[in-house]
Amino acid sequence: MLRRLHHEQPASFAFTPANQAWAEAQITKYPAGRQASAIIPLLWRAQEQEGWLTRAAIEHVADRLGMAYIRALEVATFYFMFQLAPVGSVAHVQVCGTLSCMICGAEDLMAVCKKKIAAKAHTLSADGKFSWEEVECLGACANAPMAQIGKDYYEDLTAEKLEALLEDMAAGKVPVPGPQNGRYAAEPLSGLTSLKELDSGKQQYNASVQAAVDIGDTLKRIDGTEVPLVVSWAPKAAKAAPKPAAKAKVEPAAAKPAAAAEPVAATAQRPAALSAARGGKADDLKQIKGIGPKLEALCHSMGIYHFDQIAAWGDSEVSWMDHNLEGFHGRVTRDTWVAQAKLLAAGGATEFSKRVEDGKVY
Ligand code: FES
Repeated sequence: MLRRLHHEQPASFAFTPANQAWAEAQITKYPAGRQASAIIPLLWRAQEQEGWLTRAAIEHVADRLGMAYIRALEVATFYFMFQLAPVGSVAHVQVCGTLSCMICGAEDLMAVCKKKIAAKAHTLSADGKFSWEEVECLGACANAPMAQIGKDYYEDLTAEKLEALLEDMAAGKVPVPGPQNGRYAAEPLSGLTSLKELDSGKQQYNASVQAAVDIGDTLKRIDGTEVPLVVSWAPKAAKAAPKPAAKAKVEPAAAKPAAAAEPVAATAQRPAALSAARGGKADDLKQIKGIGPKLEALCHSMGIYHFDQIAAWGDSEVSWMDHNLEGFHGRVTRDTWVAQAKLLAAGGATEFSKRVEDGKVY
């Protein structure tokens, strides 16, 4: 398919302030001279902000990364995930047209798109609210036929269900993503045949749907202030240099330059951080089950060095940490850090911490 820039283009592009801060933080991930490596995340954020990639946005990103426009254009036109034409103001519908979905009714879904949106893909509906396209397998074949609408998957669709979804969305609603036929996830339609014990006590939605509902960004244009859409990433420059023990003091950790706009859950609060370990010696956080060397280093980079710091966390601090441990979301709660830390801070020991001390855990 020939991918060209749209014939109508806006005159300019600018990131929102929060997106700009996010973009600047992304760039610092790469070593000097390699900033061009940030091109895909920056183009993606520009698309998340505007809905599609304009020429002005591509050139803006190229300028910021010190790249020739043609290099940025090559990236934008190569990857199909980048929309080069305007998309619906409410939603862009991506109907999977690969084997499983095709066998299970994808053509019916596309007929709905042609009827309710536009006869041709990549064309805006008359009211400008929707656009659609056929895409290759989205990896949800067990829930065929399906479509990605906005950021999330709507699965086990029928023509009628897709029509109803579009009507709800046009009316300003965001229907719950995931299976639309009552299935929880991708279990057999007739119900579970094994692992039935896991069926009780499960949360309301499967993990993907639960995340979509919690984050609430299915159809949203992203301006950078969302929670917890992006995990914070602390540029190296923001790390506090180790200081002599006597000078260590508790500081509010908001002094993080490029990532100042980092999103956190509304009820979440960043835990108080130390600029260095007290007495120059951090506790061995690896004695907390669930914390390995990587997580320990991450904690240190966030100013967390001691058991009593973790022991003092309340719900809001736990929530913040769960959202902001890049690559380790939810670990504080899952591995009960606070309960373990309370024991260790009080001089106690857990079965696990004893094994660590005995050198039996590596
Ligand atoms: S064939 Fe449609 S998701 Fe795989």
